[in-house]
Amino acid sequence: MRYFIGIDIGGTNIAVGVVDEEKNMLKKLSVPTGADRKADALIDDMVASVRAVLELAGMTLADISSIGIGVPGAVTQDGNVIQAVNLGWKNLPLQEIMSSRLGLPVYLGNDADCAALGEVVAGSGANCNSALMITLGTGIGGGFIVNGKIFSGCTGQGTEPGHFTFCYGGELCGCGKRGCFEAYTSATALIRQTRRAMEKNPDSKMWALVDGDIDKVNGKVPFDAAKLDDGTARAVVAQYIDYLAMGIAGIVDTFRPELVIMGGGICNQGDYLMIPLNEGIRKYSFAADEFPPPPAVRATLGNDAGIIGAAALQMSMEKK
Ligand code: BGC
Repeated sequence: MRYFIGIDIGGTNIAVGVVDEEKNMLKKLSVPTGADRKADALIDDMVASVRAVLELAGMTLADISSIGIGVPGAVTQDGNVIQAVNLGWKNLPLQEIMSSRLGLPVYLGNDADCAALGEVVAGSGANCNSALMITLGTGIGGGFIVNGKIFSGCTGQGTEPGHFTFCYGGELCGCGKRGCFEAYTSATALIRQTRRAMEKNPDSKMWALVDGDIDKVNGKVPFDAAKLDDGTARAVVAQYIDYLAMGIAGIVDTFRPELVIMGGGICNQGDYLMIPLNEGIRKYSFAADEFPPPPAVRATLGNDAGIIGAAALQMSMEKK
C-alpha cells in the first residue's frame, strides 16, 4: 500500500492529512492559516504540520510516496505559484521549497481542482466522467473534471471561474479587477452584502445575532436570520443565491458537465441553499426545458475533499 500526504491551504485553515492509495484518510489535522502572514511563516507551519500528522499516524517521511498541495491560486506545471490573490502570493516556487525541506516529491494543484478530484475519486462525483466543482469560501474556487482527470487548461495553471467578469464595472475583487464572479458570490462577498444591508436596516434581527457588533458577521448570520423570517436577511440570501445561480448557469452552459458539486461552509445550509440554487440554475441556463441543466449537489467529503484530492495528485498524473 502506498501513502500520500495531502495539504489543503484554505483562507482560514491549512488542513493536512495522510491518505492511502485507496483514498482513505488515515489521520488529519488543521492549523489556522493566518493569511495575512508572510509566505515563509505559512510554509514553516505546513512543514511542522506534515511532521505532526505523520506522528499521529505512527509513520515517518520514509513511508510517504509524495506530498500534494492544493493552493488557492494559479500554479505552473513546474511547481510555481503564479498568484494566490487571497494570500497575497506571487511567483512563489512552492514545490521546490517544500520538496527541499521535506525531501519528498511535491505536486501542486489549484485548491478547487484538488477538491474536485477528491470528490470524483472518493465523494459525491464517484463514477462521474465530467463534473464541475464550485467552492464557496474566502474566494470562489472552480474545478473541472474531464474523463476522470483535472482539466487544468493548456498551461496547467488551473481554471479560474471565480474571476470571470460577472458584472461590467462592478465590485472591486481581490485580484484587482472589477466585477468578478467571486466579488459577488464568495463568503467574503456575502459578508459584505450582509453588512451593507444591516447598515441600511437597523431593525434587522441580524443585529441581535451579532450582539450589535457588525464585525462579528459571518456567512451563517444572514441564513440564520432569514430562517427567523427577517425580511432584510431573506432579501440578502435570495439575492446572493440568485447571483450564484446566474454565474453557475453561465459556466454550465459553457462546459456542460454531468454534475455540479458545491463545496465550502455555506453549503452547510443544505436544502435552504441547494433547492433555490437548482431552481435558479435552471432559470438562467440555456434551453433548460430541452436540455435540463445538471443537478447541483453538495460535496460529501466536506473539508476532506481538498486533502484527499491533493494527496491523489500523483496517482491522477500516473493514470493514462
Ligand atoms: C483563486 C483561485 C482559488 C479560489 C478559492 C480564487 O480567488 O484565484 O485560484 O481556487 O480563490 O480559493
